[in-house]
Amino acid sequence: MKTRKQASNISVKKSARSTTRKPARKSAKGGAKSIIEPCSLDGIFRPRSVAVIGASSTKLTIGRQILHNLIQGEFQGKVFPVNPHADVIHSIKAYPSVLDIPDPVDLALVIVPREHVAKVVEECGKKGVKGVVVISAGFKEAGAKGREMEQKVLAIVRKYGMRMIGPNCFGIVNTEPGVNLNGTFGKTFPKRGNVAFVSQSGALGEAIMVHAQEAHLGFSMFASIGNKADISGNDLLEYWANDPGTEIILMYIENFGNPRRFIKIARELSRTKPIVVVKSGRTAQGAKAASSHTGALAGLDVGADAFFEQTGVIRVDTVEQLFDVASALSHQPIPKGPRVMIATNAGGPAILATDSLISHGLETPQLSDATKKKLRAKLPPEVNFSNPLDLIAGAGPKEFESALKILKSDRRYDAIVPIFVPPITVDPSEVSQAITDGVKGGNKTVLSCFMGVRSGSEGVNVLKENGLPVYRFPDAIAKTLERLVWYNNWLERPRGSIHIHEVNSAKVRKIIKKAESKGQREIVGAEALEIVAAYGIDVAEYHEAASVTDVVSLADKLGYPLVMKINTPRILHKTDVGGVAVDLRTADEVRSAYESMEKKVARHSSDEDFSVVLQKMIRGGVETVMGMTMDPTYGPLIMFGLGGVFVEVMKDVSFRVCPVSDVTAERMIESIKSYPLLAGFRGSKPVDKQALMSGLMRLSQIVNDFDDFSEIDINPFIASSRKGESCVVDARFLLRDKGETK
Ligand SMILES: Nc1ncnc2c1ncn2[C@@H]1O[C@H](COP(=O)(O)OP(=O)(O)O)[C@@H](O)[C@H]1O
Ligand SMILES: [Mg+2]
Repeated sequence: MKTRKQASNISVKKSARSTTRKPARKSAKGGAKSIIEPCSLDGIFRPRSVAVIGASSTKLTIGRQILHNLIQGEFQGKVFPVNPHADVIHSIKAYPSVLDIPDPVDLALVIVPREHVAKVVEECGKKGVKGVVVISAGFKEAGAKGREMEQKVLAIVRKYGMRMIGPNCFGIVNTEPGVNLNGTFGKTFPKRGNVAFVSQSGALGEAIMVHAQEAHLGFSMFASIGNKADISGNDLLEYWANDPGTEIILMYIENFGNPRRFIKIARELSRTKPIVVVKSGRTAQGAKAASSHTGALAGLDVGADAFFEQTGVIRVDTVEQLFDVASALSHQPIPKGPRVMIATNAGGPAILATDSLISHGLETPQLSDATKKKLRAKLPPEVNFSNPLDLIAGAGPKEFESALKILKSDRRYDAIVPIFVPPITVDPSEVSQAITDGVKGGNKTVLSCFMGVRSGSEGVNVLKENGLPVYRFPDAIAKTLERLVWYNNWLERPRGSIHIHEVNSAKVRKIIKKAESKGQREIVGAEALEIVAAYGIDVAEYHEAASVTDVVSLADKLGYPLVMKINTPRILHKTDVGGVAVDLRTADEVRSAYESMEKKVARHSSDEDFSVVLQKMIRGGVETVMGMTMDPTYGPLIMFGLGGVFVEVMKDVSFRVCPVSDVTAERMIESIKSYPLLAGFRGSKPVDKQALMSGLMRLSQIVNDFDDFSEIDINPFIASSRKGESCVVDARFLLRDKGETK
């Protein structure tokens, strides 16, 4: 069996991944200390002895199967069946309790009815057991009583400093030579390989083993974590970060227990070990009523999208796709780009493949003259020398091998897709062998499609055994390549750094305290602009005024033209109530704007002092918006988009999870549809992108420093083409209800 490193068509590649493949604990640049620290799971995954508590001699029981699997899998340590009612189980001496075992015990697999779990786990603690895997179900997943029992078991685990996987799980596997631990009750045996798999669902356990076998995918470790009472997916990521046998991590998870921790670990780990996650990703976000633009614009899946974009975690929609992507990652190099060459004996499927590749953002460039010439010298003249290269129906092993030998070294392509539909005259296993020989020594990603050949048949096994993944339909290949190219792009992107600016956070704290003491949930007008300015974001010059005399004398000081705005937390969107007067050019215009606003506000709220913000009118520039909203799963999201009063109509925004690095800020700006308007459209000058990036990073710093806000809108941030002239003219902060749980 081949691992990633051994696969022949990997040796030549020099990907971002291969150059950074050193212990994940050290970060690739600068040797800064990584957040990925090893954790103490060796007692569970590398035990020297295992007790099976609830072992049974009755066939077709979990207690029998798990014992059988340990032995059948040639576990390298000692095995002790524990059962108070039997002296011998499966030909091995059994003990009434773990306390009766004369030797030390590292790991206990617990399969007793739920009422007995607390008692046996307590005994494990007394015995000095390091880790327990509780297979038994009927805990948190089964209602209030079960939840209570789970808490009790967890308290015992903590009391003795043990670690626990489960309850309610399928067990664990470590195929490492010297360990050989199959602690599952499945019927299918995992092979050794470079893939670690964590599944939240126990029920999927057996299905995962079967699929893996079909795909010739080998596991380094596997863990079904069930209710995650103690050990979570995050713990396993940290553990596998430091496991030399693990090169790829697959996750089937229904929820991220602690998404912020996941983000921290994954962002680092994805650099050296690809992580693939099945996540359907529908959150409750959409149901929440939002009062800011940013909140209203955060669609159902923006948090998830941002999260994957920033961490480099490869997202797939189905378990099938998880295996499709994993088979490619496990044995093949990551494609360096989107250019695919198809070689086929069947025209129709090749057209399907082309369509599917193109619709997934891949490219199928035509053959170069040089390559055509080489191909013509080796292939019959009826062949269609283009991409797809149609070798025609009679093509057999010889044609495939000759064609692939030439194509594998053509720099024009990043991936090769051989497609074969067997005619009765050709033996598929010979074509399998020919493809294998043809691509040997190349450095491109090779994903083959054998249509109408049974999976697991001899015809395709030659390929699979040689580390060449086989797919049944071209569509699966297109989807897989799309994911791999996405990952490669992520790897090649500069890492970015999170800047810490010098700011006046004490001032912001004061403004928040003041609003809270007045029972206010909103901070608007002058105070909102003060927060923005305290974090070093330029604000258009403004003054507050509370009388006609004041407003006129301030106007003279500021200089015309001016903008006047009502200044009250009772009114969130000022324009909606006629609370913004722009382009005031004389003292008279200022005076009459003031008087008419005073009247309008009296209509909306009679109970407070009236004041306005008088602000310099900014001419030209492009109105952009920056904001923050809370995602229930991924925490605070930072938004950027085209701004102004029509922001919700345009819906042209991008989101990222907090904190935002310089690289992320730049991508947020460049990824909106109307980016050309910012980059200089039809002769207009490009806006100062650095000012926008700095604004986003400083906003991210506000969010990082204060968890008091639930939503923020900085709208508009007027982006100017002239350096030093971009500025904010309006902002709004909503305070989190401190009664809410965070
Ligand atoms: N100082 C200013 N210079 C130029 N235009 C402004 C200025 N202040 C506001 N505007 C214009 O008025 C619009 C609404 O003003 P804003 O202060 O954002 O109030 P609100 O969002 O509460 O309606 C802005 O989107 C912008 O087009
Ligand atoms: Mg506004």
